[in-house]
Amino acid sequence: MSLLEHIRQSLKGSLNQTQRDKIVRFQALHCRRIQHFTYGLFMGSNLKALATVYGTDKWGRHWYAKHYETHFAPLRRQQLNVLEIGVGGYEDPGSGGASLRMWRTYFPKGQIYGIDIHDKSAHDDRRIKTFRGSQVDEHFLEEVLKTIGRVDIIIDDGSHQNEHVLTTFNFLFPRLSENGIYVIEDTQTSYWRGYGGSSDELNRLDTTMGFLKHLIDGLNYAEVEKENYIPTYLDRHIVGMHFYHNMVLIRKGMNNEHGDHIGREVKSAVVNIEM
Ligand SMILES: C[S@@+](CC[C@H](N)C(=O)[O-])C[C@H]1O[C@@H](n2cnc3c(N)ncnc32)[C@H](O)[C@@H]1O
Repeated sequence: MSLLEHIRQSLKGSLNQTQRDKIVRFQALHCRRIQHFTYGLFMGSNLKALATVYGTDKWGRHWYAKHYETHFAPLRRQQLNVLEIGVGGYEDPGSGGASLRMWRTYFPKGQIYGIDIHDKSAHDDRRIKTFRGSQVDEHFLEEVLKTIGRVDIIIDDGSHQNEHVLTTFNFLFPRLSENGIYVIEDTQTSYWRGYGGSSDELNRLDTTMGFLKHLIDGLNYAEVEKENYIPTYLDRHIVGMHFYHNMVLIRKGMNNEHGDHIGREVKSAVVNIEM
């Protein structure tokens, strides 16, 4: 029997249900804060260990934590706003929140925000805030961004429906901070029919992987031998793409390095940037 269940049982009879629930919530919050303190002290920079002890599937079922460490380690002590789509636990309000708590410990100065289609407010705590709504509801996302202000890291671990992933990316990527990072997890659904993917047409632009693959050439738009080529917003604002097994990490920045046309006058690729 877990400690919380033990407390719940021992309070039966002496208190009414509401009082018992309040005490259990209070205890849960304190257990989480003690966990945060001890995990932070002993394994704060070890994301694989944090993923394991908090119980997110980012390590064990998936192997994302090692890639996150590669990219996030230099940022760890910065004051970042991190937004994760998909808090976990689906309909169960008390379940989930593992990755939010993992990020809170990993980024000791970070503010951690979570979006979920279900109410996840039971996980709100110091430096953790959740919002209820759908990742494809632009009005909702706009309101979330107004509350957060700046967002430096976005992680999409929500519905994993290809259409949702791309709608969310197209809306949120332009709103990410200038040198921000956008991560899409579980890109395997690009190949799964039930999620709008395909295992036959791998370059379809309505699948996550098909769409992201077609953005790669944009990194080199300044080299394109077409005088009238007009770079897109994504050509000009993606400076790096990292593809891993079932996970893609996209770096935002100003892609304005000049072209390198050997034997020709160097063409400046600096362009006016507007959203
Ligand atoms: C895989 S879980 C997230 C796990 C969590 N990020 C972790 O690593 O511990 C996916 C979550 O996305 C939520 N979700 C599903 N569809 C969504 C949508 N359209 N908008 C927002 N959240 C959604 C589900 O309710 C579920 O809690």
